[in-house]
Amino acid sequence: MAAERTEAMSARLDDLEAIEAAIWRELESAARIRNHPWRVGVLATIDGDAADARSVVLRDLHTATRTLLIYLDPRSPKARQIAAHPLGTLVMWSATMGWQLRLRAHLTVQASGLEVSSRWARMKMTPGAQDYLSPLPPGSPIAHPNPERGSREHFAVMSVKVLAVDWTEVHAQGHRRAQFDELGRRWVSI
Ligand SMILES: Cc1cc2nc3c(=O)[nH]c(=O)nc-3n(C[C@H](O)[C@H](O)[C@H](O)COP(=O)(O)O)c2cc1C
Repeated sequence: MAAERTEAMSARLDDLEAIEAAIWRELESAARIRNHPWRVGVLATIDGDAADARSVVLRDLHTATRTLLIYLDPRSPKARQIAAHPLGTLVMWSATMGWQLRLRAHLTVQASGLEVSSRWARMKMTPGAQDYLSPLPPGSPIAHPNPERGSREHFAVMSVKVLAVDWTEVHAQGHRRAQFDELGRRWVSI
């Protein structure tokens, strides 16, 4: 990550293709490295006729298919929102790079299957497993802040298939913004 961070920061890239490649390299780092500034993003979804948003952890990435993976409880409100409206936006910000990403994406939630069970097999060995062992769905009213854990997991994997990237660079020598989507790459005004 250090080398990539240096690349993004010191050599100010001018070429859109190089910037797009650097974005995906940084996302790969974020999926691997716990304290990467893009490790936690804010995922916005559609809740009926309102917006909703929350922090999520980037767990994995398939660069070839432009797909990010996030873990969640399949009983959560966000899972219900995604089932009704599968479009969302994942926002990431790195003060170190001065880079904001707004990733417009198609979202799908998988709660069963080989990929989910093999990821749970790894996850259940970690302290983070408790997030998926609550007997109650997320957001249920409770009498105490630390309710007991159940033994049955409620674990799902969200695929975030990126359709468009909106990149903004905040920089002392002038801010820049570019977009990358199925129509190509372009500079746009801030
Ligand atoms: C730093 C941070 C990281 C989080 N990561 C996740 C995550 O990866 N998956 C998840 O379901 N919730 C995560 N949460 C909790 C969500 O932000 C949210 O509070 C919870 O999932 C309920 O969201 P919902 O009501 O929109 O479904 C995280 C919260 C914080 C503060």
